Amino acid sequence: MANDKVTLTDHRTQKSYELPLNDGHIRAADLRQIKTGPDDFGMMSYDPAFMNTASCKSAVTYLDGENGILRYRGYPIEELAENCTFLEVAYLLLNGELPSQNELKDWVEQVSQHRLVHENLKKFIDGFHYDAHPMGILTSTVAALSTFYPEAHNIKDKLNRKQQILRLVAKMPTIAAYAFRHSLGLPYVFPENDLSYTENFMHMLWKRTEPRYQSNPVLARALDVLFILHADHEQNASTSVMRAVGSSHADPYAATAAACAALSGPLHGGANEEVLVMLAQIGSVDNVKDYVKHIKEGKGKLMGFGHRVYKNYDPRARIIKRTAEEVFKVTGRNPKLDIALELEKIALEDEYFVKRKLYPNVDFYSGIIYQAMGFKPEMFTVLFAIPRVAGWLAQWQEMLEDPEQKIARPRQIYIGKELRHVTGKSAGLRAVASD
Ligand code: ACO
Repeated sequence: MANDKVTLTDHRTQKSYELPLNDGHIRAADLRQIKTGPDDFGMMSYDPAFMNTASCKSAVTYLDGENGILRYRGYPIEELAENCTFLEVAYLLLNGELPSQNELKDWVEQVSQHRLVHENLKKFIDGFHYDAHPMGILTSTVAALSTFYPEAHNIKDKLNRKQQILRLVAKMPTIAAYAFRHSLGLPYVFPENDLSYTENFMHMLWKRTEPRYQSNPVLARALDVLFILHADHEQNASTSVMRAVGSSHADPYAATAAACAALSGPLHGGANEEVLVMLAQIGSVDNVKDYVKHIKEGKGKLMGFGHRVYKNYDPRARIIKRTAEEVFKVTGRNPKLDIALELEKIALEDEYFVKRKLYPNVDFYSGIIYQAMGFKPEMFTVLFAIPRVAGWLAQWQEMLEDPEQKIARPRQIYIGKELRHVTGKSAGLRAVASD
């Protein structure tokens, strides 16, 4: 309501302040008027890890963690996963509406035409050691793209931005597939324009000497669904990095590379790889109880469990679990699934996990599907990054068009030494003098 406000009383000064509320929130800058005297900088809120700070207004993704709800541009994730392709969803995130038939035809054609990468970019990938982590290759190669498109720094030009967005969405699978083939010592495969986004990706990954690689339609669709589920997730760590780097007006390749780096951490997108490591460590269903006991004793975390925002089942995990059934009909059952199911069952009944509202997140089952499809665990986070580029870029664009946004620059509370002085020469200079 227009007249909503809160009244704060500062008991240091006995003064009261009325702070207006907008949609139930105060502006942190309004706290600055709360001072003890003219020399006081004014009050700040202290919020390590941004547990309770909204850094932007966004119309891209709605997330209600208490009730397990996720919507892109108002559409429930379940309906998008059921009825759309990844490229339709990417268009929705980037443009705000699902495409008409003509718009979709145009968008798909344009993405297909931009799949190729410059030959020099391949040489760049060639320079990586044979066992370089594909996520490291992806991050560095995306950063290198900025040197191929220097005009990308002109971030204020909407048309120019559109061109770079198109390139990034189109080239991510190509770079990812080349990173994968580099690790196997296989030649890179040219993209095929007439294949869908995921069919073409599978073709670039797995084509050997056959004249035409035939992807399995169930697996191609499963990959498409997984891409839809990973396309955006509002202000998570990597998206916040995308916005923060973009806020300095760095070009979108630099910002996307930084977001990839944030995603690679095991507490974020890297968790799907860690889940597989954990399941391998557990080894068999019989060992699950002991493993859970070991976690409850504080010896590590159950990877793929818990979420900063979801305090109810992650709706993406539910869809992924269903997708797994489809995939296993084609690939055969991944034996790790039994360990995962037992782990989930025991954890969901256990007081430790119930009390802390720890549920399986998107990463718990995705790795098991990817492994059944033939991906090595090192590729899992790369598979996360490909679709997330659509979300990152939608958020980046929104940030640039938001008149309230400026360069991201949090405050700190200084806890270091008071002013002190250097007395005499430092140890380094004394050493030089005695040489
Ligand atoms: N296993 C065991 N205990 C856990 C787990 C877990 N996976 N996650 C949280 N806890 C415990 C914490 O130890 C803490 O316990 P305490 O209150 O006794 O100290 C409590 O639950 C709260 O956890 P926090 O760490 O405060 O939760 P936070 O919101 O900071 O962390 C995170 C969220 C990083 C996702 C965390 O749950 C985690 O590390 N999970 C495992 C890694 C993972 O799966 N990451 C992927 C997230 S989804 C994504 O990024 C795509």
